[in-house]
Amino acid sequence: MSNQDFKQAPHKLLVIPGPIEFADPVLLANATPGTSHVSPAFIPVFGDCLRMLKKVLYAEKEGNQSVLISGSGTMGWDAAAANLLEQGDEAVVLNTGYFGDSFAECLGVYGAKVTQVKCPVGGVPTDEQIIESLKSQPKMITITHVDTSTGVLSPAAHISSLVKKHSPSTLIVLDAVCAVASEEIRFDDWGLDMVISATQKGLGTPPGLSVCVISRRAVETLAARKTPVPSYYISWNKWLPVMKAYEEGRPMYFATPPVQLVYALHASLKSITTQSPSLEERFAQHKAVSKQVKDKLTDLGFGFVPTSRDHAANGMTAAKYPKGIAAADILPKLAEKDIVVAAGLHKAIASEYFRIGHMGVTVTDKERGDVDKVLKGIEEVLKAKKQD
Ligand SMILES: Cc1ncc(COP(=O)(O)O)c(C=O)c1O
Repeated sequence: MSNQDFKQAPHKLLVIPGPIEFADPVLLANATPGTSHVSPAFIPVFGDCLRMLKKVLYAEKEGNQSVLISGSGTMGWDAAAANLLEQGDEAVVLNTGYFGDSFAECLGVYGAKVTQVKCPVGGVPTDEQIIESLKSQPKMITITHVDTSTGVLSPAAHISSLVKKHSPSTLIVLDAVCAVASEEIRFDDWGLDMVISATQKGLGTPPGLSVCVISRRAVETLAARKTPVPSYYISWNKWLPVMKAYEEGRPMYFATPPVQLVYALHASLKSITTQSPSLEERFAQHKAVSKQVKDKLTDLGFGFVPTSRDHAANGMTAAKYPKGIAAADILPKLAEKDIVVAAGLHKAIASEYFRIGHMGVTVTDKERGDVDKVLKGIEEVLKAKKQD
């Protein structure tokens, strides 16, 4: 079947902050027939994905390495802990929501001494808090670029500059599961050591791949370990030679990659990196749509979980219900209109807000009309409630 002939089945519009709507060519690529993971056809497809990923993250410095492994975003946390930390190493977690709690828990499982830097819900840690946390020169600091539970966008470039100034030996790990391809990430310029992501959000591909890019310094940290990596499947000692081989056009086996999903990711990355809009335009489009959504919701009486627009994500919106409106007035009513948004996730305020994802084709393919459909849907259900 050719790309033009394939159309996915009619379905409810999925506008949660991941998984997101997928483009037809991506889903068609996922239907690639049985193909050996070491076949000459597959090797350049995998290699291209590793290269294109670096492009999306502006991570093209010699020595950086992309790592694609079957799994989900969560597995990137395990990979960071298992490969970069040893028992008793100090790690600072900058917490901007639910996903900071979970990342901290994961690092603790591997024996790290974790300090969490917390702030009121919807806020970001202050510079003073961050600088204080760096006094002990921790081995690692983690930043959640967009915490999907709060819609808070951490100022990753600024935080990285603080780390470089106050504790330059600290490895900087960015959880960008809900940020890659919807927020600008300058891996080399910001001096990041690891970006963690997954396929099902900004990368517009079905779930199932743990997506990471690591720096030369991260690779050297692995090599300098005094103790073995406390994991089998996610040990980079197993995976880095495999990734290098595919980039060099050679097959190598450690564990079977999800061949069809890699084809799907290839289709999506190709469209992100080579078709219009350019990467820069793509990030500008996400900003513009975010503003459109937030302006409209403000007009309709909604508030927001992030305490300022300055640190609100561009690929999603965490909107607080207007006075007198509850989740039951909005979410099931939108579902009746075939629009699927997400409920609140942060325990402290879960019943007070809901979340809309605006990433990928929902943003870049205006002809779909996704954003207008969601905003119109919300306006209509609010109006209907007021007329009750
Ligand atoms: C910021 C963040 N980190 C990590 C994860 C975990 O990713 P996954 O659900 O793919 O394991 C998520 C999932 O939504 C997330 O939003």
